[in-house]
Amino acid sequence: MNAIDMLTKQHREMEQALEAVADADDASRADLFEEAADALMAHVLVEEQLFYPAVKAKRTEDILLESLEEHLSLKRVLADLVALPAGASTFEPKFHVLVEQVEHHHEEEEEKLFPKVKKLLSDDELDALGESMAAAQTRLLPREPRLLATQQTDEAAALGEAS
Ligand SMILES: [Fe+2]
Ligand SMILES: [Fe+2]
Repeated sequence: MNAIDMLTKQHREMEQALEAVADADDASRADLFEEAADALMAHVLVEEQLFYPAVKAKRTEDILLESLEEHLSLKRVLADLVALPAGASTFEPKFHVLVEQVEHHHEEEEEKLFPKVKKLLSDDELDALGESMAAAQTRLLPREPRLLATQQTDEAAALGEAS
């Protein structure tokens, strides 16, 4: 699948998953949150490890660096949420901050980054990139990637080189 289509589709899925957490009753909230947080971290990590390096160029570098800072901010809120005990009164306000940041970040990627990437990479390149990103996510998802957020709150990930 085309890498941009895949990421955009996942943005909508994550927004829905986060909405489901917000609407959940006490019995199902924790499970739904874990699921949404795993999906969010798997998405973010694959962007950092594969997508951003592959689309790094003069005209994308500033946006990518800003995106990495937004990822850092997401990881910090996520790490806070993961560490909260069940039923904590701060869960809800913190969760709303996460949702706002996620929505803003998706908008930035879709409106500023992806249009530039479409001019940089061919459809074949985007398809090949999508394949490797999907495979990486499949490997990551069962390993509870939300727990990695806690280890990545010091500084933004470096903008790596495409391998
Ligand atoms: Fe994204
Ligand atoms: Fe992102």
